[in-house]
Amino acid sequence: MTGIGNAMLDVITQDSKEVFRELGLVKASMALIGEDQLERFYNAMGPTIQMSGGSVANSIAGVAALGGTCGYIGKVANDEFGERFTHDLASLGVELDLAIARSDEGATGRCHVFITDDAQRTMATYLGASNQLRVEDVKEKLISRSEITYVEGYLFDLAPAKEAIRKVVNFAHEHDSMVALSLSDMFCVDRHRRDFLELVTGDVDVLLANEAEILALFQVPTLERAFEALEELGVLAAITRGPQGADVATMTGVVRVPAHEVEHVIDQNGAGDMFASGFLYGLALGADPVEAAQLGSLCAGEIITHLGARPEGDLEELALEAGLL
Ligand SMILES: Nc1ncnc2c1ncn2[C@@H]1O[C@H](COP(=O)(O)OP(=O)(O)OP(=O)(O)O)[C@@H](O)[C@H]1O
Ligand SMILES: [Mg+2]
Repeated sequence: MTGIGNAMLDVITQDSKEVFRELGLVKASMALIGEDQLERFYNAMGPTIQMSGGSVANSIAGVAALGGTCGYIGKVANDEFGERFTHDLASLGVELDLAIARSDEGATGRCHVFITDDAQRTMATYLGASNQLRVEDVKEKLISRSEITYVEGYLFDLAPAKEAIRKVVNFAHEHDSMVALSLSDMFCVDRHRRDFLELVTGDVDVLLANEAEILALFQVPTLERAFEALEELGVLAAITRGPQGADVATMTGVVRVPAHEVEHVIDQNGAGDMFASGFLYGLALGADPVEAAQLGSLCAGEIITHLGARPEGDLEELALEAGLL
């Protein structure tokens, strides 16, 4: 499996006082910020922990932790954060096709993550070098070997995104790689609805979204209506619904897969990303979508028990114990 997305470092703080509101952020969403705002956002945060992130990069880390062979395409700068991002995927055995931004193209992307007491995450992202991902940075090699090519919806916020995404999708079609898309964020869907719909209609085999994102895509008030739209398009979809689990929409109907029970939810950041790891890896192994979603739930259950969106436990062992691998 190969993923393409915004490479970035997460700068995470526990935000009991909901300081993020003073910065004008909307709870549970992702806002983009410029280089000129970095200092203000960082200074507003309490003590932080910093670790590699990036939505699809997290999912790829999850697949690697499950024992899968995978690759990642993205762009970093030649700086400490870029080095760390690279190390953290490479050390899991992920094959990387990372472009390196020129020194005048900005620093490695970073995401300021505010975790509130209800375990929700609110994010402010500086895209930096990620924003410089160009069509020529997309190479065929990794995609040509992958059963699934996983595209991050956040990529639509990049300046040259459409062309780069088109190239990725064309390579995937040429090499019989399934195209999976994450809708990423409801506001991102609002910003680029036409592009998302075009991609979903013509190119996407597997769609990953949470409830708010799928409603935003089809501009419908209920999930039932969204499922009808999905059925019409003939797209396999997994709609994650937090503690309520995930709805898997196939051509034969919708099946609810419960969330994995966990004792204490600390940080829901990465739940969707890890669900995608298990779901897509399961599909790549030939599992049926409901079994694949069970693996997704198991992986999501691990990530929400600790801070940070990269797995800490041995996902492969967990999955083997649960009889899902
Ligand atoms: N409180 C919870 N308890 C158990 N499982 C949960 C909980 N929250 C999330 N999950 C699991 O995580 C999956 C995805 O979560 P969610 O719907 O929150 O994704 P998301 O909003 O895209 O998250 P993110 O973008 O932060 O990764 C759910 O389908 C479920 O399996
Ligand atoms: Mg998500």
